[in-house]
Amino acid sequence: MNLLVLHGPNLNRLGQREPEIYGNWTLEEIDQSLKHLAVELGVTLDAFQSNHEGELIDRIQESEHVDAFLVNAAGLSHTSVSLRDALTGSGKPFVEVHCSNVAAREEFRQVSLLAPVAVGTVQGFGPESYRLGLRALAASLAAGQ
Ligand code: DQA
Repeated sequence: MNLLVLHGPNLNRLGQREPEIYGNWTLEEIDQSLKHLAVELGVTLDAFQSNHEGELIDRIQESEHVDAFLVNAAGLSHTSVSLRDALTGSGKPFVEVHCSNVAAREEFRQVSLLAPVAVGTVQGFGPESYRLGLRALAASLAAGQ
């Protein structure tokens, strides 16, 4: 199984950015940790971050070799029809993750355009959300969902 982790805008600043909300891990530490976990789970994993919606969409469109995505679309989760269209258009399953519990935050964060088309969402566990999301994605692929 080839999996691709997509990180949206501002997530390159994890570790420095509002650590009381998003935790202390840097994006590099998260990606490293996911790569170790991927070995344990027997999947291949690559990761991509961009601050630009179009670059994320291009990467999804170029992902013929990818079986599924793990996605923290950051602020784009709440606004981007185009990113959702790219994900649904890929025909591949994805799990949505958020470090913070967006359901407990501002009203505008409580709507995710991605959630209704995701396999599921993991949120509120800081950087651990990514690890839980990866386990959930691998399990759902193994179960043929
Ligand atoms: C986030 C939550 C989003 O609302 C926010 O815009 C982010 C990060 C999270 O991981 O908690 O940038 O996706």
